[in-house]
Amino acid sequence: MAPLDPHSYADGESPLTTHVALTLYLDFATCSLHGSALLTLSAPHSGPLSLDTRSLTIHSAIDPTSLSPIPFSLSPPDPVLGSRLSLSLPSETPLSSILLSFSTSSSSALHFLSPSQAASPFPYAYTQCQSIHARSLFPCHDTPAARIQFSALLNIPSSLSAVMAARHHTRRDPIPSEGGLSLPDSLWCAPGRIVEQFFMEQPIPPYLFAFAVGHIVYRDIGPRTRVYAGPDVVDEAAREFAGTEEMIRAGEKLFGPYDWERFDLLVLPMSFPYGGMENPRMVFLTPTVIKGDAAGAQVVAHELAHSWTGNLITNKTNEDFWLNEGFTTYAERRIVEVVQGEERAALNMGIGWRGLNRTVERFRDNMEFTKLKPCMQGVDPDDVYSEIPYEKGFQFLWRIERQVGRPVFDEFTKKYISTFKFQSIDTETFIDFLKANVPGIETQIDLRLWVEGTGIPPDAMEPVSAVYNKIKTLASEFKNGQMPAEDEVAQWNGQEWELYLENLSANVDPSQALALDARYRLSESRDWEVKVAFLELAISTGCKEYYAEAERSLKQVGRMKYLRPLYTALAKCSEEGKMLARRIYAESRNCYHPIAQGVVESILSKHA
Ligand code: BES
Ligand code: ZN
Repeated sequence: MAPLDPHSYADGESPLTTHVALTLYLDFATCSLHGSALLTLSAPHSGPLSLDTRSLTIHSAIDPTSLSPIPFSLSPPDPVLGSRLSLSLPSETPLSSILLSFSTSSSSALHFLSPSQAASPFPYAYTQCQSIHARSLFPCHDTPAARIQFSALLNIPSSLSAVMAARHHTRRDPIPSEGGLSLPDSLWCAPGRIVEQFFMEQPIPPYLFAFAVGHIVYRDIGPRTRVYAGPDVVDEAAREFAGTEEMIRAGEKLFGPYDWERFDLLVLPMSFPYGGMENPRMVFLTPTVIKGDAAGAQVVAHELAHSWTGNLITNKTNEDFWLNEGFTTYAERRIVEVVQGEERAALNMGIGWRGLNRTVERFRDNMEFTKLKPCMQGVDPDDVYSEIPYEKGFQFLWRIERQVGRPVFDEFTKKYISTFKFQSIDTETFIDFLKANVPGIETQIDLRLWVEGTGIPPDAMEPVSAVYNKIKTLASEFKNGQMPAEDEVAQWNGQEWELYLENLSANVDPSQALALDARYRLSESRDWEVKVAFLELAISTGCKEYYAEAERSLKQVGRMKYLRPLYTALAKCSEEGKMLARRIYAESRNCYHPIAQGVVESILSKHA
């Protein structure tokens, strides 16, 4: 049967899931999850049905009406896709729902943290499903081509609370027999357990399914925004994100009504592997964005922008990922322009332009992944995650904006969003819509080259920004032993330093790096962007002086944006650095989310 998505076992002929009723029991003692999922299909179906799973044990599959068992089998795991759950639905009576029970103690989506790992008196657990990890929480059609509503009962220790990217309904005592057959009352209703219930009425692609459980408190910071975090960071976080409502209003003006009702923020423990994740109604954020400067707001602007581009209109498969991230990067910069001004937006574009060029260079032996729409058959999205969909996608949209003018492009964007909202679309659908609404665009822009070509098209543009140009000049002067003067850097925050450090030529010698640090104390910066950019540079030039600081950093943070450059710099610089990287990883592995573990392992094996 025709596959729908290279990253899913779902086929194009059987009906997809439209609703899931989940019952989940979190066992912190064994770091495991036990649950049941009642799947509703878009139409009654008989015969074979395939679902995605990864690292799940399936205990039973039954017809919820007759309670008769449904025959099933689980394929051996494919390294990218996981295991296909093949069900044979009875031919006599087509079924429109299926009840599955399952367990996992090695979910690639779920990270359990002990109290010490969570830097709290309490343990913590949280999920990260994008791109293809929802299948390791419950069996599902784990393709963004499917959209599901859900309800969820989370059974957790009563000392903790649960939050979800969904509407919270109640917190109450467990009720006997609601755990079903696979979760006996002796477990479900054991003393010290509590149930939190959620509903998600807005249909979402499975990768947006998310929850977190821990000692979580909150502060209201706007009419539709609450910051959730641990008690030690919640006040600082509330101050950092005070401008959120202003950004939501800016987004609504540009892209149409905010359709998700709430826009809450959850600050996770330091191990969270991304800067931010656009889980609907509740964005997940790394605590490293709390530092009192523009970059934190930029991450919030980005995840907020996904409310329109990504969550309302979703990429149909990961091959169309630029529709999510490129559009969101464009939308993020438009929001930043409104709330932080043109110069800041231009600086962000400059940082993006650098990143795009660097990434194309990095993929020089694998140009497929410099395409806007790459072929991803057999490829794990986590392995090829890069700035290409973000920055080449941004450049493509900015190119169209320059061609048609901003007022026309803004009208187009609004119409695009209202036309396709709550749908999953592919690149071809976008191009057809563009051609239909901007007649003649294909004669003005080589759309094929942008979508199918490798590298950076000739009509891409380096942004013009006074700050960006000044930083580049200062960086080129460093070669001649010239350091920026105090007054030149007085106004710099993390992003400016990051850009400066990235522009220093690769052949800086160790003494120069040491001198720069002696003057500006970059290795001790409280800003992670600055600290990591400096440590990466210093270690790459061969400064062993910074091994200890690199070790401290790698043991503190799990954000992959920092793990990648630091582990790569250590693994590449010397035998000693390589051994150090291995030891640090062995000692910190459990502090990293399973997705980050995979990324670090692949860096270490590449430089074995
Ligand atoms: N959706 C992404 C994070 C993601 C991408 C998770 C692919 C899993 C697979 C999120 O919106 C994002 O892009 N985060 C960035 C923020 C930045 C661009 C402001 C990050 O985490 O660095
Ligand atoms: Zn994003």
